[in-house]
Amino acid sequence: MQISAPGPGRLSASWPLGLSHSVSVRPIRPEDIDLETEFAHKLSGETRYNRFLGAGVKLTPALLEKFTRIDFSRDMALIASTTVEGVETAIGVARYARLADGFTCEVAVTIADAWQGRGIGKRLLAMLIDSARAHGVKRLIGEVLATNTPMLKLAFSLGFRVGFHPEGSELRRVTLDLP
Ligand SMILES: CC(C)(COP(=O)(O)OP(=O)(O)OC[C@H]1O[C@@H](n2cnc3c(N)ncnc32)[C@H](O)[C@@H]1OP(=O)(O)O)[C@@H](O)C(=O)NCCC(=O)NCCS
Repeated sequence: MQISAPGPGRLSASWPLGLSHSVSVRPIRPEDIDLETEFAHKLSGETRYNRFLGAGVKLTPALLEKFTRIDFSRDMALIASTTVEGVETAIGVARYARLADGFTCEVAVTIADAWQGRGIGKRLLAMLIDSARAHGVKRLIGEVLATNTPMLKLAFSLGFRVGFHPEGSELRRVTLDLP
């Protein structure tokens, strides 16, 4: 399957946030490694736990580098940033990764603790869905802790159905078909 690289217009956006900030979104690049590293290291234990479904994942330099080196023909990662005291700061990342069937992708969204609950996650995930559709993805799935009400509500509000997970009652699977 031939899938084109993302067009510059479709995957970038910016909007004002409150009186003094604006949020910019664009596909992540390898040069964003420092932004990504700082973002990941500042996440609270709870946010990390929710994102990685438990305490087990170690955010090693190799993993963080992998997070910034995206093969856009298969996968996608959008980074949201803002300027804090004159310095670009990452405040959110949304990504999908293609599973072995070639048509299903797993999604994940993470918003920095201080920036949660301000509509950024919803916009990032909406952009990711548009991008998935444009890249021929037929189904998005997400693995979400059953206790993660914010993510379950967010996914539901964007059309995902929330179902049981084959691996146990601590998890839910959210699914969005893209016909
Ligand atoms: C879940 C997460 C991505 C949501 O992003 P966010 O920017 O905080 O959410 P938004 O402000 O865009 O809110 C979008 C919707 O999510 C739901 N939501 C967000 N925060 C919520 C909260 N604290 N309680 C209940 N629902 C909440 C609401 O339905 C909201 O819609 P509304 O504003 O119309 O009511 C973010 O909180 C996060 O990064 N959490 C930790 C990591 C994580 O759990 N990732 C998901 C793993 S797949």
